[in-house]
Amino acid sequence: MKKKGGIKARNDVSELIQVMASLTSEHNLERLLKLIVQSALDITHSDAASLYLREKDQLRFVITSNKTLERRMGKKVFESTIKAFTVAISKKSISGFAAYTGKIVNIKDVYKIEGKPYSFNKTFDEINKYRSKSMLTVPLINREGGVVGVLQLINKLSNKNKLSTYKKYDEEITISLGAQAAVALENVQLQDDLLKAHYDSIMRLSAANEFRDNETGFHVQRVSFYCELLARAYGLEEEYVKNIKYASPLHDVGKIGIPDNILKKPGRLTEEEYEIMKQHTLIGGKILVNADNDIMRLAQELAVSHHEKWDGSGYPHTLKGENIPLSGRITAIADVFDALSNKRVYKPAFPLDKTFGIIEEQAGIHFDPQLAKVFISIKDQVADVFERLKDED
Ligand code: C2E
Ligand code: SIN
Ligand code: SIN
Ligand code: SIN
Ligand code: FE
Ligand code: FE
Repeated sequence: MKKKGGIKARNDVSELIQVMASLTSEHNLERLLKLIVQSALDITHSDAASLYLREKDQLRFVITSNKTLERRMGKKVFESTIKAFTVAISKKSISGFAAYTGKIVNIKDVYKIEGKPYSFNKTFDEINKYRSKSMLTVPLINREGGVVGVLQLINKLSNKNKLSTYKKYDEEITISLGAQAAVALENVQLQDDLLKAHYDSIMRLSAANEFRDNETGFHVQRVSFYCELLARAYGLEEEYVKNIKYASPLHDVGKIGIPDNILKKPGRLTEEEYEIMKQHTLIGGKILVNADNDIMRLAQELAVSHHEKWDGSGYPHTLKGENIPLSGRITAIADVFDALSNKRVYKPAFPLDKTFGIIEEQAGIHFDPQLAKVFISIKDQVADVFERLKDED
């Protein structure tokens, strides 16, 4: 008995160490939540697990996994039946109690709770014809001792997959997993805040540069939102969508190297002036070179490539078709759409329908035809941004 337990413990511990390492390297909140729940299920050998995140004095239920119900109705269907809800951080509910006291709650049978301030809410069980029995509820506590959330494990299974109960040993490993999960969750949230601060400074700096040839500075914001909308509608991963949203405001950063007499010229540029103007792509590339993060690397790529054209007649490298980086092809549509639909020192604003008409007409010539098609298909969303961030006359 003792020997067997010892061997099992060592296997679980090595699994736990691996899981912990993977938690800290996951920087996407949604994937991190899934990873925590899945690891908790595997390591404790439970039938179900849920995770709550703290929001001020409430807990928000964010994710659950339930092997029995997923088997019975299919994972997709089960997930579609789950509704988000919140519970107060108080002693009245089990998860609330764990968050309120910072203590682990180990219950043998949630239908037989006696002499406790909390009770079990059977609604979920009744709706899903499920029997919750044993339950282990652990507060996720960060380095400063604050509660970040609550992890709840339901229905401990024995080696023979029979309903069992949580032992001291399960408490210990769940507490270590919970501590690691709290740190990982907090890191992701901090990173989100950092990203927002970062986005804010990109916006301010690029708008400051833009004030030279455009009085409002809204051009870069609109281009950023158009890129975000287009990338998402095209079906790109949310991480790429966010990255291009943050990177695209820098597409014209190289205009900082273009003299005023050219940049602000009210009329058409001469051929020589235009040649100088075209340098803004390469200057942008130099400003953003050797970046050490994804957003800045993408900014560098699209600063250089946003004036390439699908048919190979663009600049600076006369790239053609899919040889043009995707970020450059997306930004080209967003940038030209914005240049056309707004007043420039050298041109009046075109109406939106005419602007969409030019984008459509230039599909396969100036623009990636598939991207152009998707852009036209989200006309309404694009028009919303245009209205919201309108330049004053
Ligand atoms: P921008 O004003 O941000 O314009 C970006 C792109 O939008 C232009 O890239 C062009 O592809 C498209 N675009 C802008 N206006 C029109 C238009 O009236 N008709 C059509 N069909 N397309 C338009 P492009 O041409 O490489 O120009 C890059 C930058 O050079 C422009 O950025 C602007 O800052 C400057 N620029 C271009 N042409 C002139 C000009 O005639 N006078 C002055 N002062 N600057 C110009
Ligand atoms: C974000 O949503 O993550 C960044 C900030 C913003 O959209 O303004
Ligand atoms: C920028 O530096 O990104 C703004 C310049 C512009 O778009 O005109
Ligand atoms: C250009 O004149 O090249 C810009 C927009 C378009 O392709 O019509
Ligand atoms: Fe440009
Ligand atoms: Fe631009």
